[in-house]
Amino acid sequence: VKVTYVAHDGESTTIDAEEGASVMKTAVSNDVDGIVGECGGSMMCATCHCYVDEAWADKVGTRSDDEDDMLEGATSEVTDRSRLSCQIKLTPELDGLVVHLPEDQI
Ligand code: FES
Repeated sequence: VKVTYVAHDGESTTIDAEEGASVMKTAVSNDVDGIVGECGGSMMCATCHCYVDEAWADKVGTRSDDEDDMLEGATSEVTDRSRLSCQIKLTPELDGLVVHLPEDQI
């Protein structure tokens, strides 16, 4: 499952991710800058904030109320496309997913 991370400065990194892994875990285990994932994926921080690319918004779906609450603590601006990347699981349907990373996570 391919996933592309577009950093705030425009640099993009594509990773061949393990199916079923989260967008956060994939970034952290592949040293992609721009995602911290401080709480390890238990929705207790907002350091895995990402913006789902417009083309993928429908497929990825909307965020939960709990994500919404957590994103209130995000450092960078929260938009309609903001998600906690630990809550996005890379399924085959999301092969080719593109996410954009915020300027700061902390
Ligand atoms: Fe902490 Fe996603 S890693 S909320």
